[in-house]
Amino acid sequence: MRILLLTHSFNSLAQRLFVELRRAGHEVSVEFDIADSVTEEAVALFEPDLVLAPFMKRRIPESVWSRRPCWIVHPGIPGDRGPSALDRAILESENEWGVTVLQAVAEFDAGPVLAHAEFALREATKSDLYRAEVVDAAVRAVFAALARFVPGAAPVEDAAPQRGRARPLLRADERRIDWQQDDRETLLRKIRSADGHPGLGARLFGQACRLYDAHRAASVAPPGQPGAAVARRGPALLVQCRDGALWIGHVRRDSGLADEPPLKLAATLAFAAEAAHLPELAVALDRDNGEGGQWDELHYRESGPAAARIGWLEFAFHNGAMGTRQCRVLRDALRWIRTRPTKVLVLAGGPAFFSNGIHLHEIEAAARRPGDSAADASWRNINAMNDAVLELLTLTDRLTFAALRGNAGAGGCFLALAADAVWAHRGVVLNPHYKNMGNLYGSEYWTYVLPRRVGGSAGEGAARRITQGRLPLGAEDARSLGLVDAVLADEAAAFEAQAEQAALQLAAAPDIDRRIAAKQRRREEDEAAKPLAAYRAEELAHMQRNFYGFDPSYHVARHHFVARKAMAWTPRPLALHRGAAR
Ligand code: COA
Repeated sequence: MRILLLTHSFNSLAQRLFVELRRAGHEVSVEFDIADSVTEEAVALFEPDLVLAPFMKRRIPESVWSRRPCWIVHPGIPGDRGPSALDRAILESENEWGVTVLQAVAEFDAGPVLAHAEFALREATKSDLYRAEVVDAAVRAVFAALARFVPGAAPVEDAAPQRGRARPLLRADERRIDWQQDDRETLLRKIRSADGHPGLGARLFGQACRLYDAHRAASVAPPGQPGAAVARRGPALLVQCRDGALWIGHVRRDSGLADEPPLKLAATLAFAAEAAHLPELAVALDRDNGEGGQWDELHYRESGPAAARIGWLEFAFHNGAMGTRQCRVLRDALRWIRTRPTKVLVLAGGPAFFSNGIHLHEIEAAARRPGDSAADASWRNINAMNDAVLELLTLTDRLTFAALRGNAGAGGCFLALAADAVWAHRGVVLNPHYKNMGNLYGSEYWTYVLPRRVGGSAGEGAARRITQGRLPLGAEDARSLGLVDAVLADEAAAFEAQAEQAALQLAAAPDIDRRIAAKQRRREEDEAAKPLAAYRAEELAHMQRNFYGFDPSYHVARHHFVARKAMAWTPRPLALHRGAAR
């Protein structure tokens, strides 16, 4: 079938549907919902059998939905309507939630239900649930509706009971923070229900901001009033509640200036001056993280018998964004891990994202700091990122595996490819390209790691198609191309245990030492053929032009990205009906 994805932006849900529908053999094109006339034009050009709208902020024009089947993906159970479906499900502590596919009609979310899929609502932020459970359920529901779809025939309705109801946009006062009254669990629920958008309004150090990335604190916090920040760790501030404390990892502070959108920054960076006076409560990388363990971005543990031990390193950087500080802590962790007697190291990234490369919000913040600049911050960040990747590439006395629990994009994808092998589950989407960010050339030794994965010297052409194509790849597509070595599970929930088992088996395999020796040899041969320093220097020469050169595309694209500015047109590689990528 010809399916037009009509969407406000090419977000994680739209990307996953794009890869799954294409993999199922459909011809899929994308149009951003910019204006009714643009949508009408896209439909006239592509003549789709079906318009599928995964993420909309406005209605589909009647001129389109009255003439062809248009389906809306709604992140709510059957009968639920309204723009705050997930926010309310979290706030109201629902145990189960769902996704519904509806036929578009004049009213929002009011059309016949064509299919639905449900999931257990785990404790997580709205964004994390959206990118994992909602996306998985949406794929199931869309495929269920497709199985019943007969072009030209009347829609077949889903017989599910309509448990939900219409509810309006959640008002700010419905989840306003009251530090004196709210207990910690209530605060956590409120923050998570608004994380990533719009963020929960609060005051820290007497200043208005929005809170994100909240975690329960296990330690006894230094004394303080509810709402007071009393300590720091990594990106986070420890904030007192009336019955415990929360780590707040990220905040947005309003600059008050229309042309300076508030940036989502590490709390310790956004309130750098204030945080400098707070005690640092550092924890060990290999701390015991059982029930009620201490939260931090990084965690390392080992398992397996003495002769076949594996290391498991998690780096749960918020939104997968790796600022200079995060890159350095990852590099230092990898340096320390060198001293550990393991045969295998698994890099498990974060549960939501493996990594999304350099931290674009932090770089934007540098542009606003006297004496600093976005170009300098980009340069520092990419060098720090390269240092971390180099540490991994030169870890040759053991095998390394990247276990992708969540998506990876741009430099974060190439960080994964720097491991000896990449494992993923079926739901993972990779964006192994940089060009969408204002034609950024990219570094992270991608010119070394990518061609060798996609096939020797012939790999150059395949590598070019991947990086120039700018398309998301599903885990199975990535496996066909050689970017992923194994797809170990259908969903994130089962993946971690399977990845650990696979790593333990490898470490205990009789040929493990031979494989490590082969890896060392290959690295030495590669180094002799062309040193890693040469790859780095070549990539950075391009990056220097991107950052400091005459063409401002990267700076403009980054500014648009952090400000979440709506796109004025659909990128040509996605809009097949507009003729570019043919
Ligand atoms: N730096 C800072 N923030 C980043 C980021 C980065 N490199 N990559 C993603 N984010 C943030 C987004 O701003 C967004 O923030 P939110 O909390 O306000 O929602 C959040 O992570 C999720 O990103 P989003 O774009 O909504 O996720 P997605 O799954 O729809 O798309 C990507 C994933 C990777 C395609 C997209 O985020 C992207 O293009 N990121 C930039 C990658 C990049 O160019 N990195 C720099 C070069 S190495």
